[in-house]
Amino acid sequence: NQVAKITVLSGDYIGPEIMKAGLAVLKAVSQDQFHYQIDEQPFGGAGIDQFGVPLPDETLSSAKQSDAVLLAAIGGPKWDDAPNRPEKGLLQIRQELNLFANIRPTSISAAMQRYSPIKQVEPVNFVIVRELTSGIYFGKPREIDDTHAIDTMRYTVDEIRRVARVAFEMAMKRKRHVTMVDKANVLATSNLWRRVVAEVAADFPEVHYDTSYVDAAAMKIISAPEQFDVILTENMFGDILSDEAAEITGSLGTIPSMSRGSDGPALYEPIHGSAPDIAGKGIANPLSMINSVAMMLTHTFDRSDLADQISQSVDAVIDSGTVTPDLGGNATTNQVTNAIIQQIYERRHNYVENDV
Ligand code: NAD
Ligand code: IPM
Ligand code: MN
Repeated sequence: NQVAKITVLSGDYIGPEIMKAGLAVLKAVSQDQFHYQIDEQPFGGAGIDQFGVPLPDETLSSAKQSDAVLLAAIGGPKWDDAPNRPEKGLLQIRQELNLFANIRPTSISAAMQRYSPIKQVEPVNFVIVRELTSGIYFGKPREIDDTHAIDTMRYTVDEIRRVARVAFEMAMKRKRHVTMVDKANVLATSNLWRRVVAEVAADFPEVHYDTSYVDAAAMKIISAPEQFDVILTENMFGDILSDEAAEITGSLGTIPSMSRGSDGPALYEPIHGSAPDIAGKGIANPLSMINSVAMMLTHTFDRSDLADQISQSVDAVIDSGTVTPDLGGNATTNQVTNAIIQQIYERRHNYVENDV
């Protein structure tokens, strides 16, 4: 059995606090089951502080040689005026690893239901597939002077097609419904998306395909989230809608993500940022990071058995009311993490007992 190589990027502000929680859970669930080695590297503000750049060369080469990258969060006021901000490092690593598809799930399990700020008629379980390495985040020209500024939203047919295929393949394993979110009533790029995605949809006749304008989609995520299965969208719309979608679970601090290309390592990270407003207080919600570890075990290492142990333990702890203040509780990061680890041990113990 080979040893899995994981590059760990803790980043800034609450980043190291939640990474510690994620790694503690990984260690607990892995005992005698999964062998890995971690390579911790500076990234974001931590990269700037140590090497003057947000994505140091050694960090990038470690990531490229890994089987998977685990990232907590980067950025914050300390570096807001830096010439090369931490956020630049994040965009750079996504591009360097060619992570064109960003998968951001939203689900409200039975245990989560009472934490949601909206009234639930039916359970919610959808996933946003966000294009991650093109669009207005990367388009040229980009310029600013004293009297004007320009950003460019640009897409090619190939960039749209490859991420669309990810969405449709995913839908085939789910409820077979893809909703493309765009602004085709205004934007040329959205019109190209419509053309290309309709072609991809024709290759997946079993998948029900529809479209929604982004403003209306923002409304439906609140009013009728149960109607979505897979939402496919461009980079910036996906950024905005995924924070909104996360919040209907009760907190942005619960949602993990996976960013992948066609080969090479995938990157797993919470969708939220470094939460400078709560850093150092020991109250950051570790669930987004712990759920990212579970996602990594499933998708990179094919160990959904271990991921299930994590998810069941997380659900049990949420159900018990041991949650951080963002979910209305008063538990600390460590208390939530320890409760989850306790659940993992109890489950394993029971399993072994039942087995003999
Ligand atoms: P944020 O996501 O860091 O925080 C938004 C709000 O959500 C804050 O009130 C924060 O306290 C809360 N929050 C977020 N995660 C939480 C958690 N795990 N537990 C409890 N509460 C949580 O967004 P922001 O404040 O706009 O950005 C802060 C910095 O993070 C900025 O520099 C931004 O660029 C960066 N950022 C980084 C990433 C990333 O690393 N992938 C993502 C988003 C933002
Ligand atoms: C995210 C973040 C990043 C993004 C920022 C920090 C560059 O908001 O991962 O959602 O906009 O992609
Ligand atoms: Mn974001």
